[in-house]
Amino acid sequence: MPSSILLSCFCFLLIYTFSTPSSATILSNETDRLALLAIKSRFHDPSGVTSSWNNSVPLCLWTGITCGRRQQRVTKLDLRNQSIGGDLSPFIGNLSFLRSINLENNNFHGDIPNEITLLFGLETLTLTNNSFSGTIPNNLSHCSKLIEFNVLQNNLQGEIPEEMGNLLKLETLYFGENQLTGQLPASIGNLSALQVFDVRANGLSGTIPYSLGQLRSLYYLHLGENNISGMVPLPIFNISSLVYLFLPFNRLSGSLPRNIGYSLPKLKVFSISSNNFTGHLPYSLSNASNLEKISLSENYFSGISIDFSSLKSLSLLDLGQNNLGTITGNDLNFLTSLINCSKLEVLGLNDNQFGGVLPNFIGNFSITMSSLAIGGNQIYGSIPPGIVNLVNLASLGLEQNQLSGTIPQGIGKLKKLQILYLYGNSLRGSIPASLGNLTLLNKLWLSSNNLKGSIPSSLGNCQNLMELSLSKNKLTGILPQQILGISTLSLVLDVSDNLLGGPFPSQLGNLKTLIALGISGNRFSGEIPSTLGSCTSLEILYMHDNSFNGSIPPSLSSLRSIEKLDLSSNNLSGQIPKYLETLSFLIYLNLSFNHFEGEIPTKGIFNNKTGISLAGNERLCGGLVEMHLPSCPTKRLKKSKTPHLKLIIPVIVSCASILHHHFHSKKEICTKHFKFVAHGRTISNGFLCGAEQGY
Ligand SMILES: *[C@@H]1O[C@H](CO)[C@@H](O)[C@H](O)[C@H]1NC(C)=O
Ligand SMILES: *[C@@H]1O[C@H](CO)[C@@H](O)[C@H](O)[C@H]1NC(C)=O
Ligand SMILES: *[C@@H]1O[C@H](CO)[C@@H](O)[C@H](O)[C@H]1NC(C)=O
Ligand SMILES: *[C@@H]1O[C@H](CO)[C@@H](O)[C@H](O)[C@H]1NC(C)=O
Ligand SMILES: *[C@@H]1O[C@H](CO)[C@@H](O)[C@H](O)[C@H]1NC(C)=O
Ligand SMILES: *[C@@H]1O[C@H](CO)[C@@H](O)[C@H](O)[C@H]1NC(C)=O
Ligand SMILES: *[C@@H]1O[C@H](CO)[C@@H](O)[C@H](O)[C@H]1NC(C)=O
Ligand SMILES: *[C@@H]1O[C@H](CO)[C@@H](O)[C@H](O)[C@H]1NC(C)=O
Ligand SMILES: *[C@@H]1O[C@H](CO)[C@@H](O)[C@H](O)[C@H]1NC(C)=O
Ligand SMILES: *[C@@H]1O[C@H](CO)[C@@H](O)[C@H](O)[C@H]1NC(C)=O
Ligand SMILES: *[C@@H]1O[C@H](CO)[C@@H](O)[C@H](O)[C@H]1NC(C)=O
Ligand SMILES: *[C@@H]1O[C@H](CO)[C@@H](O)[C@H](O)[C@H]1NC(C)=O
Repeated sequence: MPSSILLSCFCFLLIYTFSTPSSATILSNETDRLALLAIKSRFHDPSGVTSSWNNSVPLCLWTGITCGRRQQRVTKLDLRNQSIGGDLSPFIGNLSFLRSINLENNNFHGDIPNEITLLFGLETLTLTNNSFSGTIPNNLSHCSKLIEFNVLQNNLQGEIPEEMGNLLKLETLYFGENQLTGQLPASIGNLSALQVFDVRANGLSGTIPYSLGQLRSLYYLHLGENNISGMVPLPIFNISSLVYLFLPFNRLSGSLPRNIGYSLPKLKVFSISSNNFTGHLPYSLSNASNLEKISLSENYFSGISIDFSSLKSLSLLDLGQNNLGTITGNDLNFLTSLINCSKLEVLGLNDNQFGGVLPNFIGNFSITMSSLAIGGNQIYGSIPPGIVNLVNLASLGLEQNQLSGTIPQGIGKLKKLQILYLYGNSLRGSIPASLGNLTLLNKLWLSSNNLKGSIPSSLGNCQNLMELSLSKNKLTGILPQQILGISTLSLVLDVSDNLLGGPFPSQLGNLKTLIALGISGNRFSGEIPSTLGSCTSLEILYMHDNSFNGSIPPSLSSLRSIEKLDLSSNNLSGQIPKYLETLSFLIYLNLSFNHFEGEIPTKGIFNNKTGISLAGNERLCGGLVEMHLPSCPTKRLKKSKTPHLKLIIPVIVSCASILHHHFHSKKEICTKHFKFVAHGRTISNGFLCGAEQGY
């Protein structure tokens, strides 16, 4: 209420001017004391930060309290980083001399009390990283001295009040990471002192108000991760003070203005990834020589003719998932200009229809390179040997191109590699034993190539490997037991569709955390090792199309997490174990084309014809009525030969092939401001399809 403001204002003047200082403070600091005690009473303060807030300590010495020198009134409340919970009492509105409130990094919840708007002298309000909910107080505009308003990382809802536009002193406005909705108010454009405006990661929609282009002091603008659509008003690309411009993960469209490289001369970080931008990338960006990070990925940009050689500070350039290439021609020639960028670390060129060969001068890129993503293009020729000069590479993705030739022996020099994706090419030759030198390797995908020879046992030195996929090659020999000694192998081990043979090593039981194992489509023989029962994390186990014989070992009853089990097309025999009924996550079981016999269980997975395939086993009986099998002979007539039966259970086609596997490494490596959406990184993304089509 304006009247109360006037009143307190008036009282203050009265007291300050006409009373003796001591009586004034006695009168007024009592209000502050009562207010703070009321505030404390709503705190959950397990570490006792406010234990000094008691009658034996003078108010101005209480923890987190600062008083003005003259009036002995509370001017600052600073309780950041104190693990305090509870809500904020409306008594806060009685601390009428407060200029600054900082409650950052605590566990406050509940509303921001409206009484906060009584603090007409408030300059800083910082509530970052709490759980405040409700709406932004809409009469906050009474706090006309507010310079900094920071509610980043809370649970605030509703719209940004139009009245924010009245706080003409505002320099910093952080609304990011809340649940705010509605449009950005056009009145924000009135805040001529505004330097930082951050509304990232909310649910804002509508368009960017044209008026934002009026903010001539703005140096940080983050509107990312909302649902904002339409064209970016051209004046925004004309705010020459801008240093950081973030618009990623919205639905913005249109093309970039031709002169952007001149109109934003101070720009260091430019991120507009995951929108609907179109058009040619403006040549003028060649002149934005302060640029450090450029992220334009996941748009519809076509054509690039930027000369990067003047961008001496460039460390990240992500052009992935656009239409920059022409499929034919030497699309990658523009990369020569990157050789001069001595700070380059991350380069994303993936999924762009780039054609041509991979130039050997890539090896002359800065030694600082840590991530190179070129997958999903139409690049042919061989992997340039020079690439092994980039010894700081942590991730290298050349997957899903048309690369031929061999994997360079020197690849073992890239000692910092954590991710190596070469799958989906036409690479020949053998797997270099030197890969075993890459002891930090976490993900190694060489699947879907023409690799021959045996699997080098040196891979067993890669003791950080979590994903190993060698499927769909022409690899021969055995599966080296050293590989089964990699205890970190917890996500995927896929050697399916090769020419591997011999008995399966019993060391398999070491892989206690492995989720998906694919060895189908090989020539493995002998019995299924009973140690497989120790792989208790397995969710997917594909062993079909081999020559395993014997019966299903009883130990498999320990696979309590198993969802998909395919043992089809082997020489397995004996009874179908009854325990399979009890594996409660099992949704797909394929035992077809073996020599199983006897009674089919009827519970669990066996109670649902869609998830199970038993065709091509001549001597089964019983089961669901729909299976149309002969009923089992009574026990007395044991082992009577059932006649040759044809089952009418549909065979579920399995294809055991690699699904599209997008390149994720850059997403894991890039900074928070470039928070890339991981494409639902699950095990079924990139592994074995089989019955999973449509899953
Ligand atoms: C703001 O509004 C709330 C209720 O909506 C009221 O209690 C408070 O006094 C108002 N503040 C000012 C300064 O008008
Ligand atoms: C008041 O706070 C002081 C300082 O934290 C402490 O030493 C004292 O024990 C407290 N007194 C009471 C009565 O809690
Ligand atoms: C209020 O101010 C007076 C005068 O400075 C001081 O003596 C008294 O201790 C203060 N009261 C509190 C609770 O700090
Ligand atoms: C508060 O905590 C944050 C995050 O834990 C930390 O970055 C910051 O330095 C801390 N600030 C102070 C003043 O202790
Ligand atoms: C302080 O604020 C509370 C709640 O907003 C109110 O009830 C009280 O009357 C106010 N005045 C004093 C002097 O405590
Ligand atoms: C948020 O606050 C919590 C304590 O409540 C702290 O542990 C965490 O580090 C803070 N987060 C950030 C990003 O500062
Ligand atoms: C504030 O912004 C609104 C909307 O852009 C506009 O209508 C109004 O005239 C502006 N007020 C001032 C004082 O500039
Ligand atoms: C985004 O906005 C459109 C309308 O512009 C709406 O249909 C859609 O549901 C919104 N999406 C989200 C996730 O809010
Ligand atoms: C951008 O700024 C220049 C110079 O200040 C001006 O001439 C031009 O009209 C502005 N363009 C837009 C779209 O605001
Ligand atoms: C963005 O582009 C996609 C694909 O062309 C289209 O489906 C979608 O409707 C577009 N969204 C907007 C907001 O323009
Ligand atoms: C790299 O691997 C090869 C083949 O396993 C080995 O001969 C060589 O000694 C290794 N080099 C280093 C530096 O570890
Ligand atoms: C059978 O399994 C399929 C696929 O797992 C599932 O969609 C369906 O609901 C199940 N039917 C019954 C009756 O359990």
